[in-house]
Amino acid sequence: MEELEREIRREVARRRTFAIISHPDAGKTTLTEKILLFGGAVREAGAVRAQKASKHATSDWLEIEKQRGISVSSSVMHADYANMRINILDTPGHRDFSEDTYRTLIAADSAVMLIDSAKGVETQTRRLFEVCRMRGIPIFTFINKMDRHGRDPLDLLSEIEDVLGIESVPLNWPVGVGKEFRGTYDRLDRRLDIFSGGNHGTMLVDSESISGEPEDEAIQAALGSAAEMFMDGLGLLEGAGTEFDPERVRAGKQTPVFFGSALTNFGLKPFLDHFVELAPPPLARLAVDTRIIEPATSAFSGFVFKIQANMDPGHRDRIAFIRICSGKFEQGVNAVHRRTSKTMRLTKSTLLMGRGRESVEVAYPGDVVGLFDPGFLQIGDTLCTSGDFDFPELPTFAPEHFMRVELGLVTKRKALQKGLDQLAHEGAIQIFSDPDGAGATILGAVGPLQFDVLKHRLASEYKVELRLSQLTFSVARWPTGDFKPEMVGHSRLSKLVYDHVGRPVLISQGVNFLERLLEGHEGITLAETPPTT
Ligand code: G4P
Repeated sequence: MEELEREIRREVARRRTFAIISHPDAGKTTLTEKILLFGGAVREAGAVRAQKASKHATSDWLEIEKQRGISVSSSVMHADYANMRINILDTPGHRDFSEDTYRTLIAADSAVMLIDSAKGVETQTRRLFEVCRMRGIPIFTFINKMDRHGRDPLDLLSEIEDVLGIESVPLNWPVGVGKEFRGTYDRLDRRLDIFSGGNHGTMLVDSESISGEPEDEAIQAALGSAAEMFMDGLGLLEGAGTEFDPERVRAGKQTPVFFGSALTNFGLKPFLDHFVELAPPPLARLAVDTRIIEPATSAFSGFVFKIQANMDPGHRDRIAFIRICSGKFEQGVNAVHRRTSKTMRLTKSTLLMGRGRESVEVAYPGDVVGLFDPGFLQIGDTLCTSGDFDFPELPTFAPEHFMRVELGLVTKRKALQKGLDQLAHEGAIQIFSDPDGAGATILGAVGPLQFDVLKHRLASEYKVELRLSQLTFSVARWPTGDFKPEMVGHSRLSKLVYDHVGRPVLISQGVNFLERLLEGHEGITLAETPPTT
């Protein structure tokens, strides 16, 4: 037993499980690909991009992906770098944004926030950042595309602080920007790296490194014409900037910032080296009853954070993604499914690698395994080999798109209800009932594509054609405190509905309408996630 725990401890210590959060086009695909290249997980640049660009040829996933050429689902990738096992949990881009995107962050231990140096903090980054903040996970910032004309680095740092409310501490400082971007000074290691060329296809970068203080003669000589601007910026930082505090980084209150260019590889390796050193390994997780579940124990445990259905249309196949939280997972292990108290033999486990799959025999905390599931598992379910604890329910996130289910022409109402219930359980969609329409069904989603997925799945799995009509609402809030339905009158701009467990939800065209609606009612707050019952 001790031997096993030692093995698990060793594996846990070398795991880094994280998500990259960014706005589309900031360079997530490029960065992911580079990390995989560094780790030898893909052999050539372009492998991930090729998947992004031409899904049609190889995809056996949702039919909808083929039709639209997009990725509906987030996948998991892994690579070994500097003796570390890196698990990257992919969060899909804006067209395919969904609740899955948020839930993936629940399975991550840290996040890399990727920012385009010309654009700064963009909307999608902000939304994803909020979920990371809610979880208190450490967030590392990579300011990308420094090889292009971008914004003043000091401005970008202030924007991160002002818009996101997190301290930003650059751990490297750029030498020149745009075409003049020639290197970075590593403020932790006190080292200047001057780049002379990168190789996109091989992850290599030609660089010269000089250790020392910025004022040193050798460093000044290497800085050349960029010296003045570089010293001014760095001087301001070292004089008045926030001090780097790993403790505050771990608490999610401070973000270490790195400047670089994923495309040219400039600054990428130093970033990765610091990241794997500073990012946390899988840590203990809290069970519902506040027990602490340590990763390095012999008992296996994990929770389902995502369900992917119909990846292979030939079989009605569903894969449940399990984030391992403790113990060693072994193919074929018997685990208790806590919600039903049934014992399940966990066979047919798979590691998902982009679009490919490989069978997995063993896995450790921080890893994600996919289990083929006959329709039994639900989002948030806990599996464990011993013990009587549950991981907390996964939060639901406020939908931003709403549709009314049109029943007029539907003949198979029972099948429709069954399908909707099942898909809501999977977390594909949220169901609300409308008291005005005699309990008519309103569907809510974080991303509009969820409705397309829903229609497709109802048609192929339940043989029901779903008709929807769009509602103009864009926010949902759960009123807390002593809320009474009478407090809100009838208005075209907002509506009171009930969620699947009967909690009141206010949906509206804007939060300000809701605030106005509740003016004068003391003690009512509007929550973005449902209050736990
Ligand atoms: P995403 O997954 O976040 O949507 O972004 P992606 O990596 O696809 O990058 C978006 C565009 O930005 C791509 O250009 C990519 O080459 C470019 N890019 C990424 N990192 C850098 C960088 O460090 N410097 C510069 N200059 N560009 C970068 P594209 O023209 O849209 O695609 P492609 O023709 O290069 O494939």
